[in-house]
Amino acid sequence: MNRTWWKEAVIYQIYPRSFMDSNGDGIGDLKGITDRLDYLKYLGIDVIWLSPVYKSPNDDNGYDISDYQDIMEEFGTMADFDELLAKAHEKGIKIVMDLVVNHTSDEHQWFIKSKSSKNNEYRDYYIWREGKADKTPPNNWGSCFGGSAWEYDETTDMYYLHLFSRKQPDLNWDNPEVRRNVFNMMTWWCEKGIDGFRMDVISMISKTAEMPDGEVNGLYGDYGPYCVHGPNVHRYLQEMNEKVLSKYDIMTVGETAGVTTELAKQYAGENTNELNMVFQFEHVEGDGKYGKWTDEQLPLTRLKKTLSRWQTELYGKAWNSLFWNNHDQPRAVSRFGDDRPQYREVSAKMLATCLHMMQGSPYIYQGEELGMTNYPFHDPEEFRDIESINAYKEWCGSGRVPHETFWPCITFKSRDNARTPMQWDDSAQAGFTTGIPWIAVNPNYREINAKAETADPASVFHYYKKLIALRKQNPIMVYGNYELLLEDSEELFAYTRTLEQEKLLVVCNFTDKKTAITIPAEFVGMPCLISNLDNRYDKQDIFLEPYEAFVLQKK
Ligand code: GLC
Ligand code: CA
Repeated sequence: MNRTWWKEAVIYQIYPRSFMDSNGDGIGDLKGITDRLDYLKYLGIDVIWLSPVYKSPNDDNGYDISDYQDIMEEFGTMADFDELLAKAHEKGIKIVMDLVVNHTSDEHQWFIKSKSSKNNEYRDYYIWREGKADKTPPNNWGSCFGGSAWEYDETTDMYYLHLFSRKQPDLNWDNPEVRRNVFNMMTWWCEKGIDGFRMDVISMISKTAEMPDGEVNGLYGDYGPYCVHGPNVHRYLQEMNEKVLSKYDIMTVGETAGVTTELAKQYAGENTNELNMVFQFEHVEGDGKYGKWTDEQLPLTRLKKTLSRWQTELYGKAWNSLFWNNHDQPRAVSRFGDDRPQYREVSAKMLATCLHMMQGSPYIYQGEELGMTNYPFHDPEEFRDIESINAYKEWCGSGRVPHETFWPCITFKSRDNARTPMQWDDSAQAGFTTGIPWIAVNPNYREINAKAETADPASVFHYYKKLIALRKQNPIMVYGNYELLLEDSEELFAYTRTLEQEKLLVVCNFTDKKTAITIPAEFVGMPCLISNLDNRYDKQDIFLEPYEAFVLQKK
């Protein structure tokens, strides 16, 4: 297996709107990030994944871009970006940009021109179709954010495709001019010195030529079989690799919902010349009760099975991303751990242990290193995210599901849980802004904040810092082979990593109950690399405390 810097890197995701506000307008910005680089340096991360900072009307918080080569006004200027990049590089931190090229904003010049007439040179940059004879959309596909995936446009009496909101029209990647423009834009950023791309819904860029109705599940038809992992996606990524990526020493990660391990070996194979790694969602996707909305936790046996399959099937062939949460997912400790006060810290550390000891590049989502929790929503008025707002209307507004039934589901899964401001200290608005934040601060900021945790050596923050440092000293964490133990245990997630003569045993209690384990003989008496409780592990039969986690090292 090739050894590379991005396999050894720990990545920290910043959602700029919620990270740090430098000018009191209630919105995080680039200067705010620059001001906090020392915090990230102290934590020890190698790479920042910056969620979109490009010019955008913010229908989907920057995932709707109106100019790829300009900065969102609320976030600052290109000079602020250049300063952030330069200062980050001075500190040895790399910056990976979010690349959102499945769609643009409907306010992008390409789209404005495209919709102006049927025969302008930009018409074919997007996906236009005639409606049906009865004036209804071309097919029954539903968009990810509710409603039809087709929007009628009066000017030319045709519909355009938008797999996300109507303000996010899908680009037509079959048009070589679209690809040429996107690749030029990417080159422009690479020349600026950025360190890579996280590619938004990149598995959806190629659509089938025929666009038949999809299988109906809920109100609309499923576009999946026609738009996800479409016919030319690998060809286009190879072209992108040849024209842009291969020319720079950068890191690339593809957001690939619905990807299988087989497909991942193509997208992110060691020698397939596409991407470095995929971001897959199998372990965070359950069977929702209402679409993706549910309040149920996945059974541990299933979680282990999924993660283990990704570990073993990609070994030596392709590279994993490791994550429990991001800006689209609820907070890790609330979802996979236990955010009740007595268990929050210990379970957050347990989850970190479990993830960072697996093979792949770990991603830390801002605030995860503090054990930040889901937000205690009281009212649908509190939602800021287009997905939650639309979903609440679609399921409850229509009377299909009573509020009481839907509320626990939407509040458990809402993307806004991840988007509340970063909790810096115990001053007003958690030190995020001197103004009124665009989204409410979680009221638990007085207990959970960076100032308190950086000062406390026993905090979740210091535990993450230690895990990151251990990765630098122990190549086995990066390159060791993975093997699952106790497959059927409903309580424990246990596995080994092996690199030549060296071996690690990782044991995590995912429950709030004391749980017994018999340590494999070869590890009895071996030193402890890290543990979230100050216990001794020198006997063969031991009891783990609720959410206890430890790693033994045999050299
Ligand atoms: C990705 C992003 C998400 C966004 C969507 C549309 O899934 O992570 O935040 O809403 O793509 O761009
Ligand atoms: Ca600001």
